[in-house]
Amino acid sequence: MSAEVVDSNPYSRLMALKRMGIVDDYEKIRTYTVAVVGVGGVGSVTAEMLTRCGIGKLLLFDYDKVELANMNRLFFQPHQAGLSKVEAAEHTLRNINPDVSFETYNYNITTMENFTHFMERISHGALDEGKPVDLVLSCVDNFEARMAINTACNELGQTWMESGVSENAVSGHIQLIIPGETACFACAPPLVVAANIDEKTLKREGVCAASLPTTMGVVAGLLVQNVLKYLLKFGTVSYYLGYNAMQDFFPSMAMKANPQCNDHYCRKQQEEYKKKEAAQPKVEIVEKEEEVVHEDNEWGIELVSEITEADLQAAAGPVPDLPEGITVAYTVPSEAPVEGETVDVADQSLEELMAKMRNL
Ligand SMILES: *[C@@H]1O[C@H](CO)[C@@H](O)[C@H](O)[C@H]1NC(C)=O
Ligand SMILES: *[C@@H]1O[C@H](CO)[C@@H](O)[C@H](O)[C@H]1NC(C)=O
Ligand SMILES: [Zn+2]
Repeated sequence: MSAEVVDSNPYSRLMALKRMGIVDDYEKIRTYTVAVVGVGGVGSVTAEMLTRCGIGKLLLFDYDKVELANMNRLFFQPHQAGLSKVEAAEHTLRNINPDVSFETYNYNITTMENFTHFMERISHGALDEGKPVDLVLSCVDNFEARMAINTACNELGQTWMESGVSENAVSGHIQLIIPGETACFACAPPLVVAANIDEKTLKREGVCAASLPTTMGVVAGLLVQNVLKYLLKFGTVSYYLGYNAMQDFFPSMAMKANPQCNDHYCRKQQEEYKKKEAAQPKVEIVEKEEEVVHEDNEWGIELVSEITEADLQAAAGPVPDLPEGITVAYTVPSEAPVEGETVDVADQSLEELMAKMRNL
């Protein structure tokens, strides 16, 4: 990867991040492997951004085909209708940056056979063949697939990031999940940003979900920004970052793993993490919020509803009180999730849900 400043060098503007003092070692990006699960509105844009940034290798997983009904989103083009998303994406991405390696799988990761293969590729699919990928990104649109990724990553101890866009297209979120350390999908219900729209009018059987290229582009941007910060070690990596398009509100927070989590690999990873922590001098990783002084910050910016140390301590269980504007997407089913079904929590109050979560 050359830093030479000539018009023909596709990496010169990225390598300039080093001269600007943002990133110490940008070239390291060439050594990293990222798996993107779900190559739809968010996943395709995510894959394109990583490709243009010069990521070493991408693994793409999706069983869907390109449809004309998706043309309100970015990335795919009408002439690709009917092709598998992973095939169409690989073709486009190779043209954009031939330096990137690709591995694509056109299957449903939630079927038993393909799930086993998925786990195998996550644990051995890195550029350095035989090693696990550096990061898994969930860009899927349903609960079942998220739970499959959660299960795989808990078992493998694989760090991953989740992303989501609401069905009314005006809110989204990203979340970093480090097994054993931060809350997994079975530890607590997934969080979403409330969008100030009556949720009861949404999520009905057979009702077409709305989507906007803007919201999906914003969420993909937030996701890849977090990926770059995590991999290249600059700035502050977000544990949870929400986006509410209606109010331009970006709540952020962190959640610790739940010692009573239903997923036994999650509990096992928590034990390992505790041992690792005990062996090291105390380093606070989960909650390292900066002290924000509202009165005299030079821009006069006031922050709304950032979770504080006191809030976290006041929280009874492993789940902190949720900042204003964040709610839960689903309740965690007590048994195995019903196929393809998401639980609508619209008619329960947040207090009821939080009470249930504490009693898990
Ligand atoms: C994916 O596989 C699961 C489990 O077999 C199944 O319930 C689901 O309907 C499948 N999805 C599609 C779109 O085929
Ligand atoms: C994925 O599953 C299908 C059947 O569900 C099977 O035919 C196919 O071989 C599997 N692919 C891999 C790579 O495991
Ligand atoms: Zn868990």
